[in-house]
Amino acid sequence: MQPIQHIAVLTSGGDAPGMNTALFAIVKIAQQQGIKVSGVRKGFEGLIDNDLIPLDYKSLQQSMHLGGTVLKTARSERFRTETGRQQALSTIEHNNVDALIVIGGDGSFRGCLWLSHITNIPYIGIPGTIDNDIAGTDYTLGFDTAVNTSMQCIDNIRDTAESHNRVFIIEVMGRDSGYIGTYAGLTSGADSILIPENDKDIDDLLNKIRDYHSEHAFIVVVSEGDEIGVEHVCEKIAAVNSNIDLRITKLGHLQRGGNPSAADRMLAIRLGVHSVKALCAGETAIMVGILNNAVANTPMQDVVKQHVISDELQGLLSVFCR
Ligand code: F6P
Repeated sequence: MQPIQHIAVLTSGGDAPGMNTALFAIVKIAQQQGIKVSGVRKGFEGLIDNDLIPLDYKSLQQSMHLGGTVLKTARSERFRTETGRQQALSTIEHNNVDALIVIGGDGSFRGCLWLSHITNIPYIGIPGTIDNDIAGTDYTLGFDTAVNTSMQCIDNIRDTAESHNRVFIIEVMGRDSGYIGTYAGLTSGADSILIPENDKDIDDLLNKIRDYHSEHAFIVVVSEGDEIGVEHVCEKIAAVNSNIDLRITKLGHLQRGGNPSAADRMLAIRLGVHSVKALCAGETAIMVGILNNAVANTPMQDVVKQHVISDELQGLLSVFCR
């Protein structure tokens, strides 16, 4: 095996707090091993456009605590095409890149698998998405920060909701996943939490709210990916109880920004360092993650699957939301 001399790293898909910390960690360990690291700007778009920049530890140290990604990110349509992927391969060859680290979600990892059909370049994925919807890791970068942000917003809404005895329907992010909804809802004491992984939760909500008499706040957290959707949830509530003062809040993209929490920074540092060590040990086509509080390698084809909400978490939802 040839020693690795030049790693290219990119962030792809939705940005997530902790991506900058991971870049910082990757460059630190790589420098110690005498490996050059280039940053690819705007995810796979930059690989197509030959948009690489040298990464240096001192400047990354100044941004390691910030949300977003200093490399920029994109959901690349061009990388879905054979032409785009061939252009990306030219960039890799032209710059003598001999390993790739991709920080992103399931769409980004699908991109890695596509690339592996046309080149044998070693690559490793680091899970970075606020949705926590990736198998092979207990947590993804950005999830903990997004949950803390959502929880604080819901706490704030509760103050005003209690003052007016109002019902609030609060939409949180999670394209196909109820993780943010589950964690933010449980930790903020929500009365009802609707997630895409449970199609009976709407019945529990309607049963509960039928007898609600506006004597206190009532907080409903709805995952964006839930099959019903907040507007429809409102209509259903109004149909079973017309005596309700109802408001909708969509938390939206404010959940995706902000400085990464300590937990996300630690996760980024562990996975960043481990990814470079794994490449140097000859690993490829894996995602590095944390399982049972230990770093773990999972074959890439196994991680492009949904991270399911465990029975234990589903049990907690039924304890607090019935
Ligand atoms: O990154 C994940 C996520 O924030 C999802 O929760 C959400 O559905 C989606 O990205 C929004 O994507 P965009 O910022 O491209 O609208």
